[in-house]
Formats: sequence, structure tokens, C-alpha cells
Amino acid sequence: MSDQSPVAIARPASSVAELNHADPTRAARFDIAGPCGLAANFSRQRYDDAAVDQLFALAASYNFGAALQRQMGGEIVNPTEQRAALHTALRGQPVHTKVADAAFAQAQQARVQMRALYEQLAGSDVTDIVSIGIGGSDLGPRLAVDALAAEQADRRFRVHFVSNVDGAAMGRLLPTLDPARTAILLISKTFTTQETLLNGEIACAWLQAPERTFAITTNASGAAERFGIASERVLPMWDWVGGRYSMWSAVGLPVLLAIGPDGFDQLLEGAAAMDKHALESEPRSNLTYWHALTAVYNRGVLGLCSHAVLPYDERLKLFPPYLQQLVMESLGKSAQLDGSPVVGQTVPVWWGGAGTDSQHSFFQALHQGTQVESMDLIGVLKPAHNYATNHLALLSNLLAQSEAFANGQASTDLHRNYAGNRPNTVIRLPSLTPGTLGALIALYEHSVYLQSVAWNINPFDQFGVELGKRLANGMLPALRGETESSDPVTAYLVSSIRNV
Ligand code: F6P
Repeated sequence: MSDQSPVAIARPASSVAELNHADPTRAARFDIAGPCGLAANFSRQRYDDAAVDQLFALAASYNFGAALQRQMGGEIVNPTEQRAALHTALRGQPVHTKVADAAFAQAQQARVQMRALYEQLAGSDVTDIVSIGIGGSDLGPRLAVDALAAEQADRRFRVHFVSNVDGAAMGRLLPTLDPARTAILLISKTFTTQETLLNGEIACAWLQAPERTFAITTNASGAAERFGIASERVLPMWDWVGGRYSMWSAVGLPVLLAIGPDGFDQLLEGAAAMDKHALESEPRSNLTYWHALTAVYNRGVLGLCSHAVLPYDERLKLFPPYLQQLVMESLGKSAQLDGSPVVGQTVPVWWGGAGTDSQHSFFQALHQGTQVESMDLIGVLKPAHNYATNHLALLSNLLAQSEAFANGQASTDLHRNYAGNRPNTVIRLPSLTPGTLGALIALYEHSVYLQSVAWNINPFDQFGVELGKRLANGMLPALRGETESSDPVTAYLVSSIRNV
């Protein structure tokens, strides 16, 4: 572990507005271009040139480049589970090692299977696909389908998602579908997840057609035992891909079915372009380094405890919930790699919502609340619709909010005073395509990994979610009245529930 910490970096005496007005070149100098036309402007972050120099010195001491090589080369970067994290091999060959090349070959084979399944279903009467999964087996595909499917002219299937164990989710969807024209995907890396198994049972009992039920899992025997799914209807997952990094694998089958195999290829190509950029660009021109170092600075130096993601695009409204899992399940850790406690803080709370809607809900707190947040505002420059005035209004709101957050507006009346100096990055996509979406998601994946390197934590395990799962299983007999809880509060709540 590096003994260098960002805490030693001095905050600039000047505000963001002062920094930008004093140096007209700053906006362009802090504008970093990535692949697929992506660009991000960091000039409204609360660091000056000296702080940026120190941050890049830190990146050198953390050895970001070697860390990326290790991850993409298939080394064990998840030591608590003794696993590699080769999501990058699902979309390309950024680093050639025996392990990474073998993973790439397996991924290619799975893509052939996915394409074949698309052709098979496209040649049948199936019109609707129900994708059942949760967390990493749901959020990525759900985001990509919501972002991309509506604009596909030759869309073959409607794709629906069910994740919540609340029976209302399944109960609302099934009556809208015809079982004779529906196929079911059960997506679960482990095939032990309560929500997916219970919803899968409801869906399979409704469908009554094993030949139209498919599983995507590492646990083919689990799928066979519980659902009788034959091995030819199982697509693979592997231990070397984490759930929240898995949308590029067969877990992305709902995306492929919604946007077609070529669109899915483009999604992967966009992500692969970002992998290459992360690995090969000079640190100062590297979007992933800038993004990660900014997050580390905002947390470690400014002490900010919340980060809002604000996509100014209706099609990206599911990006904040997707990122919540990617970032917070990865970086919500208190132990360093060697098991000792982390020094300082790790992940802040990530949240957000689409503009302009969220301007009319939580933006008040972003502008005038006592707690300062950092933000990513994401804009898509070319729309996929013909309402040009709406699009200009959308972008003008994005620009206005970024400026207002940064510059504020002084007033002697405290009620009308905008303090400003709220750090924000403006990320631009030329248009929203499978390729640009793939690159955008991969940018955040790499940023998360590099933040974990800076904090010396493991971003690929998630033991924190296990306790709640285990306790929930134990609650079922208590709710049925078969056992009594040993916890007095739980026992009281159980009896109040049972007495309804
Ligand atoms: O939310 C916890 C979690 O373990 C995630 O990491 C994972 O993506 C999700 O559950 C679903 O797991 P599985 O794919 O095994 O059903």
C-alpha cells in the first residue's frame, strides 16, 4: 500500500468561479476527451493546478497503470474470494496473458450461443421476454434496454424485467402477457438468490413451457435441480466476473434480445474502447484517471460525503440506480486489502436522478443545503427525436445548473444567497448509441477500480450484503409462527405482523 494520502493536498484558497475567471485557459485544459466522442470537463472541480499536480503524483505512487494491467491480465485482484475480475475480457483483449486470453475465448463462445438463441427465438412466435434477476443480474441489462431499445427501428422483442421479491412486481406483469408468446430468462450468477428463485417459480408455473425457459448462471446444476432447465438451455457465467460487472456477459442477453446482436456487439466495442483508453492513454489525458482522482480528492481532501449523478437525458434515468450498485457495493468497504481498517473514508453516498425532473425535487438542497455535494452532470448532445426546442431547453438547463452550482450568486439576504463552489463535472456524449453507452459505463467501472486502488480496498467482494440475506431466511419460520425470534425487537414486530 502507498503511504501517500490525498489528505495532504492543499485546498485552493480561491473558489471555483475565481479559478475559472482568473485563468481563461482552464476550461479547455481541464476538458478531457475519451473514446467514442466522450468528453468530461473538470474545470468546475475545486482543485487548482498545484492540487491537480499532486493528485497525478499520487496516481503515479499508487501505480494506477500497473493496477489496470493486473486486473485486465487476470491476476487475483479479489483476494478475499481468490478470484480474478475479468469483465474487460468479455469485450476485448486489452492485455494478453494466458488467463485473460482463455477468458476472452470463453466469452466469445458464449456470444455465439447468445446470437444463436436470438435467431432461434426470432424464428418463433415469441414476442415478449421476461428477465428475472436482481442486483448485478438486473440493473445493467435494465439500464441498457431502457436507454437503447425504444429507438431500435427493427426491434424484435419486448423485454420486461422483474427483480423485487414483492409479488406485486410479478403480479402486475404476468396478466399483461400471453404465455404462449413469452420466453423467460432466469439470470443469477449463484442460482441461490431468494428473489430470483421465488419469482422464477411463479413465472415458470405460469409459462408451462420448459422449452422457453433459459438460465444464465455459473450454477447449471442448481438450475437443473430446482427448475429442470436442461444444460442446452443454460448460458454460462464465470467466477471471474463479478455480478455488478456482468452485463457484458450472457447476463446481457436481455439487451441483445432488445437491441439485436449487432447492437450488443457495439455496446461491447464501446466499453472495449474505454478499456484501451484507460490502459494506454497518458495519465493527464486519461479520462478514467481524472474521474477517479477527482472522486478521491472530493472525499479525502474536501470531505464530501455524497455524490449526485444527474443525467440530462430521459433515456439515462436508470443510470443513477445502476451506479449505486456498481459504486457502493464495490467501494462500501472499511477494511484494507490486508484486513486492517482503512485510514480515513471510502465511498460517499451515490445517488441522483434525471434532469430536468430532479431540478424540481432535490436540487434545492444541492444549491442551498448545508451539506455540499459533488456532482456529475451528463449531457447527450444530439437527441434521437425531432423536438429541437425541447432539446435546446434540456441542454440549457444542464449548462445553467452546472454554472449555478459552481458560481452561485451572492445576496445579503441569506434566503436568496447561493454560496456556489459546488464541485461538478460535465460529461458529454455526442449521441446515445450502444457504443457511447458502453464507453460511459466502462468509464465508471475503471474509475471505481482506480478509487479502490487509491483506498487500498477490494472492490470485487460484497460480504456486507450477506448478513441481511442470512437473517431474512431465518425470519421466514418466525413469520409463519414456527419459531420465535431471539431478538426482542424482532419478536415484537413479528407478533404485530402476525396479529394483522
Ligand atoms: O446484492 C447482492 C448480490 O450478491 C449482488 O452482488 C449480485 O449482483 C446480486 O446479489 C444477485 O446475485 P445472483 O446473480 O447470484 O443472483
